[in-house]
Amino acid sequence: MRYDPSIYDGAAVHYRYGRPAYSPQLEALLVEELGLDGSGGLLDVGGGPGILTVRLAHLFEEAVGLDPDVAMIAAGRRAAQEQDIANITWIQARAENLPAVVPGPFRLVTFGQSFHWTDEVRVAEAVYDMLEPGGALALVVHTAEGRAVPSHPGPPRIPHDEIRELVHKYLGSTRRAGQGTARVQALGVRDTLARTRFGAPRVIFAPGIPDLVRDAESVLSGYFSMSYSAPHLFGDRVEEFAGEVRELLRERSPDGVFWDWPGDTEVMLARK
Ligand SMILES: C[S@@+](CC[C@H](N)C(=O)[O-])C[C@H]1O[C@@H](n2cnc3c(N)ncnc32)[C@H](O)[C@@H]1O
Repeated sequence: MRYDPSIYDGAAVHYRYGRPAYSPQLEALLVEELGLDGSGGLLDVGGGPGILTVRLAHLFEEAVGLDPDVAMIAAGRRAAQEQDIANITWIQARAENLPAVVPGPFRLVTFGQSFHWTDEVRVAEAVYDMLEPGGALALVVHTAEGRAVPSHPGPPRIPHDEIRELVHKYLGSTRRAGQGTARVQALGVRDTLARTRFGAPRVIFAPGIPDLVRDAESVLSGYFSMSYSAPHLFGDRVEEFAGEVRELLRERSPDGVFWDWPGDTEVMLARK
């Protein structure tokens, strides 16, 4: 699969502000499932601005945050500095460059919403060889489908359908990615992993944040953090688009705040 370095152009500065956090119980779930005890290494692949790298680094002796996007790496490094986390090495590279760029071994290799960007089978096989015996691969995503929706805390929900209509108005209805369009995956991730030496993974859920309230600017940043509506795609109409989203959000919530329910945090665990 060819890597297009423009997929997240302009997105890194919006990422941490715009994306909802994973479950606050994610660390506890991983500690319990994998018996983490502060030793060993973590490799977070496609870590973006270090979302999982920074959250999980304290559970390991050493952590590595890997991403091909230089602005994402810079944002991760900044977040780690702000939180005084000193055991992370940052590497600008693609997953397909594994194991050459950082051979390991690792106790845990994570992909937070990033595995789909890679040559999945080839990358999973490379990761398998990089894990210590008993080590694990963890694919982490938000999943709302099929999960119980918590009770409504008050503010209106983010009008995603209407914002997506605006995205389509500016960018067309075919999902964009970098200079082209998004890849359509033939197989689900579970089936993909089942084809590798890992075999079928186990799926576990950690409860999402039930009452996450976000302001309008963070909702807009969330869209700018997505590959399909990253700032570069709008060219010189980016401010026009932002203005229309802000106006829509003002109409839908005069208080300027929204309830976000991205779902529970799904962890697909595959052991070596
Ligand atoms: C949706 S972001 C995920 C960021 C973070 N892991 C999280 O959990 O929010 C996807 C990341 O995958 C990275 N990416 C894209 N292609 C990649 C590849 N071939 N190898 C590794 N990372 C890749 C992008 O640069 C981007 O930072």
